[in-house]
Amino acid sequence: MAEQQASPTLKAGQRHEVSLELNGRQVSGWAEPRMLLSDFIRHELGATGTHVGCEHGVCGACTVRIDGKAVRACLTLAVQAEGSKIQTVEGLAAADGKLSLLQQAFQRNFALQCGYCTPGILMSLAHYLETNPSPSEQQLREVIGGHLCRCTGYTHIMAAAVEAAAAMRQAG
Ligand code: FES
Ligand code: FES
Repeated sequence: MAEQQASPTLKAGQRHEVSLELNGRQVSGWAEPRMLLSDFIRHELGATGTHVGCEHGVCGACTVRIDGKAVRACLTLAVQAEGSKIQTVEGLAAADGKLSLLQQAFQRNFALQCGYCTPGILMSLAHYLETNPSPSEQQLREVIGGHLCRCTGYTHIMAAAVEAAAAMRQAG
């Protein structure tokens, strides 16, 4: 008879050290196996720019980039992010505080009101515009359609996205 497999290394209720790169800095914190990445980033690492809305993958507020890809942090366990490179909204501006072209376009177009949805939208667009520098308006609508905004009616967000794509293309 085959030997029973060794018990899993992650035990419920036990905290594990999770080390990762957050916005270019090596950091670590402690997480139970069930802890969401969104909670880990906010409560354990103190980066509260990432917002939490629905906590089940619908609203997009919690979107961060993991190894370059835009990901719902509320659908990811903190322990799954061990060793990865995470970028949050705090990592979009340059070290001297100068806003990214994407952020500048949002600012110029008044593309936010309460700002709750904004970090998630910025992270999705940051990823998307890197992979597709010449998006159609329909493609941008589809990206933004993955985010719920209660405030703006999306018109200004769309204008900002179109302008950001053009500015980033021009900057190369
Ligand atoms: S909080 Fe993650 S998608 Fe809503
Ligand atoms: S700006 Fe308020 S939820 Fe989008």
